[in-house]
Amino acid sequence: MQSTNKEIVLDSQTINDRVRELGQEISRDYHDKELVVIGVLKGAFIFMADLVREISVPVATDFIQVSSYGGSASSSGKITLVSSPSQIIEGCHVLLVEDIIDTGLTMQWLASHFSDQGAASVKICSLIDKAERREHKIKIDYPGFAISQGFLIGYGLDYDQQYRNLPAIYHLIT
Ligand code: IMP
Ligand code: MG
Repeated sequence: MQSTNKEIVLDSQTINDRVRELGQEISRDYHDKELVVIGVLKGAFIFMADLVREISVPVATDFIQVSSYGGSASSSGKITLVSSPSQIIEGCHVLLVEDIIDTGLTMQWLASHFSDQGAASVKICSLIDKAERREHKIKIDYPGFAISQGFLIGYGLDYDQQYRNLPAIYHLIT
């Protein structure tokens, strides 16, 4: 299952270095705020695990899961809430952590979801900003890497639930 045609895009050292910078930047910005990092399951779980260990200020962690994609590489265009954070969001400074922002539909939905719940602020950190197919304008406060196109796998990113365990990020060649 793990033998596939793929081309490396970001090696683990490059990812680690950038994750460290993001952690430092977030720590500076939130030193006087109660930070709640919300990971968007499932894709963000590896990035988030590394990111929170680079954050040096107090941080609460939680997760949300929504579904927009079916089993494949194309969006269904509709968001459904699968599971919610257990944390009370009202009054919290929420930092949403996502693996990749593609059309922006998921993140637009999530940002308004957390605003509706009364978050004191909602900011966005995405490891990858893939702007090629963007349909919804999103301000990414903490972008990791801009990758213009293609379908990416590894470091949490999946194709049909596979390849999340790859330590680097690759273009899937079909
Ligand atoms: P959006 O709503 O179109 O921005 O889609 C965001 C979600 O689609 C991400 O959280 C990923 O789960 C998935 N996705 C988009 N592009 C890729 C990719 O290149 N590889 C893996 N998953 C992707
Ligand atoms: Mg995702």
